[in-house]
Amino acid sequence: MTKTVLGIIGGSGFYNLPGIENAHWEKVMTPWGAPSDEILFAEIAGLPVRFLPRHGRGHPVPPSAINFRANIDALKRAGVTDLVSISACGSLREDLAPGHFVLVDQFVDRTFAREKSFFGPGLVAHVSVADPVSPLLVDAVAKAADAAGVVYTKGGTYLVMEGPQFSTRAESYLYRSWGMDVIGMTNMPEAKLAREAEICYATVAMVTDYDCWHDDHDDVDVASIIAVMKSNTEKAQRLVTRLAQDFPREHPECPIGSDRALDVAIITAPEA
Ligand code: ADE
Repeated sequence: MTKTVLGIIGGSGFYNLPGIENAHWEKVMTPWGAPSDEILFAEIAGLPVRFLPRHGRGHPVPPSAINFRANIDALKRAGVTDLVSISACGSLREDLAPGHFVLVDQFVDRTFAREKSFFGPGLVAHVSVADPVSPLLVDAVAKAADAAGVVYTKGGTYLVMEGPQFSTRAESYLYRSWGMDVIGMTNMPEAKLAREAEICYATVAMVTDYDCWHDDHDDVDVASIIAVMKSNTEKAQRLVTRLAQDFPREHPECPIGSDRALDVAIITAPEA
């Protein structure tokens, strides 16, 4: 059994949750550089919880400049075993209206300007990310959403684009034709790096807009995203509080091996 430490990567609004105790911010340095911000070390109902603002407090860090390796490594050093990533996204499906939460189970990574691996020349590893989301963790998130009265869809594919501009209309139509469900700029390479770090990972994608494919809605802009974000954040806070309260204090090995991904991934010979 593994003793659990819950990590949350998200925006603002998670640092004064009801029930949060013994909270303090700590700078965690890594060989990959500095993470987006300090990490908030805290407890909820006795469970150790670690919060990292993905874009830094006040949102100074744009998606392409996030040091994803430092963020994941810092959370690993802070003891995180299970990481829930919370992010805003656009909807590519009529039935996923703004305000809806999607517990994504797949990603298509269209980013191209980000460091994507802890491995490289000298130490080569190829982890599987066939199933990037850890089933026990996403089940716990779904239960917490039920208990907190948050409406969600379980399963869906999140297309991760580079940004920072939103998509052209042709791109938005293309992604819909590929069967993508939601679109955002932040969850890759985060999910891949979590797997390399052997951290169980799940995503809560909070829909803020219909991107630009929808004839009946204005094209996406930051003002409309922020308007929806306010109520999404309030729901996400309820979800996270409930998740931490009910989260198992220890759990068995991940059924898909997220927590031991490197056992079968390193290809460089030990003497090389
Ligand atoms: N984040 C929120 N809405 C988005 C959209 N439509 N495209 C990309 N990222 C987003």
